[in-house]
Amino acid sequence: MSIAHSLYALGFLDFYRVSCEDTAVESIPIVVADIDDDDAAATMEVLRRRWPGQGPKVEALEEEGATLTKRQHAVACHSGTAALHLTLLSLGVGSNDLVMTPAFSFVASANVVEYCGAKPLFVDIDLATYNIDPAALAGHCKQQQDKIAAVMVVHQFGLCADMASIESIATQFDFDVVEDAACALGSKLHGQEAGSFGEVACFSFHPRKVVTAGEGGMLVTDRAEVAQRCRLLRSHGLEAGGEMRELGFNYRMTDLQAAMVLSQLKRLPALLAKRQHHAAFYTERLQQVEELILPQAMQGSQPNYQSYVVRLQPEWLDATKMSSIERVKRKRDAMITACHEQGVMVRPAAYSLPALQYYQQKYALSPMSFPNSLLAANSTVALPIYPGLQEQELERVVSTVTEAARFEELP
Ligand SMILES: Cc1ncc(COP(=O)(O)O)c(C=O)c1O
Repeated sequence: MSIAHSLYALGFLDFYRVSCEDTAVESIPIVVADIDDDDAAATMEVLRRRWPGQGPKVEALEEEGATLTKRQHAVACHSGTAALHLTLLSLGVGSNDLVMTPAFSFVASANVVEYCGAKPLFVDIDLATYNIDPAALAGHCKQQQDKIAAVMVVHQFGLCADMASIESIATQFDFDVVEDAACALGSKLHGQEAGSFGEVACFSFHPRKVVTAGEGGMLVTDRAEVAQRCRLLRSHGLEAGGEMRELGFNYRMTDLQAAMVLSQLKRLPALLAKRQHHAAFYTERLQQVEELILPQAMQGSQPNYQSYVVRLQPEWLDATKMSSIERVKRKRDAMITACHEQGVMVRPAAYSLPALQYYQQKYALSPMSFPNSLLAANSTVALPIYPGLQEQELERVVSTVTEAARFEELP
């Protein structure tokens, strides 16, 4: 394996195009951002105005974001993580609070709880959708009702979470619902946009997402006081008159970022249609591979396929045994290596957060107490998916993944 391949496998080179040395075939990255001449022209327009910082483009993006999600307010900021952090602070989350978070996610979903001095209460996922399991959620609520301030609902990989069940639990136990819709721009549940359910919802414009400005984020809400507090905290906590009553941050978005996002939003339906086409292609071809479980969207939902994640489930897997989970992880890692050797740059999909050293040690967690999350973290693989993928490349991903998934090392 070349240095570039090794760095890529370790996650250091996210978007590096490496050519496959053995075959001299160009590799297929996990993602290629869809950036066209219109996006370039939109950013040039900002550059020509000689004010690349937060300005009229950010304002225009906020209007567009609110319209898209049928919300009253939108606040753009420099990342999805910043949007989540501002959201929790504005909802009043602080020390002594618990925020329920799926045990299988990207680290930001829990890290922002820590930033507020609160404690993430990890909840196991439903293996079918990779989203928080409402039954497990209800169980936690019964035990810790007094301290729970909010639930962070992630629509993982753009697959919608079971919002009806979650909202009914939230009403019963009286806590806020925050949608971590970082991956879910354009996903729909029963015709309703992801990001239009909770008190506040947050999006990300990182390059792995359906529209991107390199970095960027936005929160949407119907609560005017939440939006107002987020705006204040986004810019150091400084009021218009120059007074500073609380400590804020510099979480502002630039007009350069906003111009790029606005330009890409104009073609959002086309971007989504391509992703959905590619996902349907993978599903049709990979369903014959017995070792793989394919993404299962909730009934009545329309995912954006921000990611297309497959899960290895060999017939010998016994998810109640750590030794079996370790074995499936070895098989998953070997599958990733085999794909990389063919230039198909698949990636592990997400983390078991209670298994990460920081959380495991700080809260004395046992990762096996979140069995579905542990299994998902060790047996899933995200396949390349982006609008520009060509039919030949899709075929190549399918044949490479099929062969790699079927390979079985001697036990
Ligand atoms: C589920 C989830 N939440 C939050 C984030 C954070 O978004 P950002 O990278 O824009 O800070 C990500 C980003 O990958 C994510 O996947």
